[in-house]
Amino acid sequence: MCGITGAVGLKDISNVLFDGIRNLEYRGYDSCGVALMNRNSIIVKKNVGGVGDVYQKENILRHSTHLGIAHTRWATHGQVTRNNTHPFLSCDKKFAVIHNGIISNYRDLKTRLQKEGHRFDSDTDTEVIPHLLEKFYQKTSDIEASFVQTLNLLEGTFALAFITHHQPDQIYCAKRESPLLLGIGDEVKFIGSDFNAFIDHTKNAVIIDDDEYAIVSKDGYTVKNFVTNQEVEKPITRIEWDSETSKKGGYPHYMLKEIYEQPQTVVKALEVEEKTLNRLVDMIHKSKSVQLVGVGTTYYVAMYANYIFSALAGRYIPAISSDEFVSLSPADKNSFVLAVSQSGETYDTLSALKHAKSKGAKTGAIVNVMGSSISRMVDCPVLQGSGPEICVISTKAALAQMILLTRTALKLGLKDKKLTQKAYNGFMKSLKSLPDIIEALLNERSGFIHRIAHQHRNVKNWLYLGRGVYYPIALESALKMKEVAYVHAEGMPCGFLKHGTLAMIDPDIYSIVFIPPNSEKVLYQATLASVEEIRARSGFVLGIHFDERNRNPDLFSEELILPPVPPVIAPLIQMVIAQLFAYFTATSLKRNVDKPRSLAKSVTVG
Ligand code: AGP
Ligand code: GLU
Repeated sequence: MCGITGAVGLKDISNVLFDGIRNLEYRGYDSCGVALMNRNSIIVKKNVGGVGDVYQKENILRHSTHLGIAHTRWATHGQVTRNNTHPFLSCDKKFAVIHNGIISNYRDLKTRLQKEGHRFDSDTDTEVIPHLLEKFYQKTSDIEASFVQTLNLLEGTFALAFITHHQPDQIYCAKRESPLLLGIGDEVKFIGSDFNAFIDHTKNAVIIDDDEYAIVSKDGYTVKNFVTNQEVEKPITRIEWDSETSKKGGYPHYMLKEIYEQPQTVVKALEVEEKTLNRLVDMIHKSKSVQLVGVGTTYYVAMYANYIFSALAGRYIPAISSDEFVSLSPADKNSFVLAVSQSGETYDTLSALKHAKSKGAKTGAIVNVMGSSISRMVDCPVLQGSGPEICVISTKAALAQMILLTRTALKLGLKDKKLTQKAYNGFMKSLKSLPDIIEALLNERSGFIHRIAHQHRNVKNWLYLGRGVYYPIALESALKMKEVAYVHAEGMPCGFLKHGTLAMIDPDIYSIVFIPPNSEKVLYQATLASVEEIRARSGFVLGIHFDERNRNPDLFSEELILPPVPPVIAPLIQMVIAQLFAYFTATSLKRNVDKPRSLAKSVTVG
């Protein structure tokens, strides 16, 4: 849950290293630091704050170097202080280490090392690593052997890298569970937590697998397994992402840019090959029990799919939050577990899949990041092709996942004869109309949404309400508000209100209600009944609904009326509106939109 990078080249790589770590900042951003190889010593510069700040404060770009490593932290062990910021040095200052993950046996190791005379400067788990390297090197005078010995002592999860003054032209790195890649440029070689670390310089990557370590120099690299000691042949993976899509363009925030990219993301999700989805459909079709897993936004995507599979394919496929999966799942050899993950590295979802596999279940995943751990561990990966999602808040990736799951449900419905070909074609036609509709809405409605978000920026409590498939949309939309604006927002099924929450309604509780098109008569009327219940108790209701003819100023406190659309895309459109509402609330409250406090993009720790 942090970013690590490193670069080694012929000439000065200081700027290259800076770009790399800045591109990884979305992974964690409470403090940052670098270790740069110098003729006489290793220079370590670090401090609390974001990459830009720390670079300026510590005047880092003043130092030119041919080799260095950098880290941007999301603290797990030890507070956010300068001393706890990576890199960490050994006592003799000959080894500098950065690490992503958790060394779970660090207490034992630290106690032993302290007894042997090693001095520690931080409260982190990571700091045991430079001291172990130093200790073994003193005995063996062999860097690689000391590294392997160290790695075999570490328990927990890690992607780590070190540089050493004993071998000033090499970067050593290794991984278990946390992600790690090499970037193979002509003049510079890189290491990184993900492609963004080097996407500006090379599209050739080597994906390091669990229990592997690599030694990287300007001329090349070797990869070996630290458990078997065998050298490993690694294929080069070509990155298809365009480095321009990782940039902010003219947008003030990545979140807004990514919201506006959604018409294109939907097109990409609609272009995912039929044969890839057919494989997924076959897996679901032949499995006795199927479960969906995801966490945070992807859990809500999975919940959405739960409704969609019921409605379109007549198949009940429960959604389980990845972090609860081990306690709940009945997975066995007759099961198929389908995960949803943008990053493909989320610890909770990885653990759920590992558990499912250990029970003999088959696995699949809808995932955005190619080459990620989840995309490589499942039997049936589906790459959603949404391009890099940099903002910590997931928007475009979630929408694309919903499209792919809807396509899967439609295909399953057709296969299981729950849908006619005609109905299938009709649904597909509706999905294909979505990009243009979103485009028009973003252009025409964002001004209005901005206005109401700004007007209500000081509201302290929002209820997000929906029925049926609009319920997961309400949950996801409430999460957007919480994480980007730090405003309390609670998602709830409308039907729950009268079973308790209604007692809380007064003029200070504001509700947003997701209202289906009135062609879905039963759902529409039931949703309006809930609005009546709130209004009868003087609660404020912002109704998001469709079709000018349904305008009802007597019922709603505020209305956002969208053009009539086919029911299958209606909830998706409402979700986009809610993304904008959260975004504009956050900007009105001057929040750190792309990097909200206490969060990180890729939660690779448990
Ligand atoms: C999304 O806005 C959140 N920041 C978070 O809930 C996220 O969806 C969750 O951590 C899952 O991540 P993943 O899709 O990369 O697995
Ligand atoms: N456990 C280490 C720390 O707290 C690394 C955390 C991370 O992965 O960001 O410093």
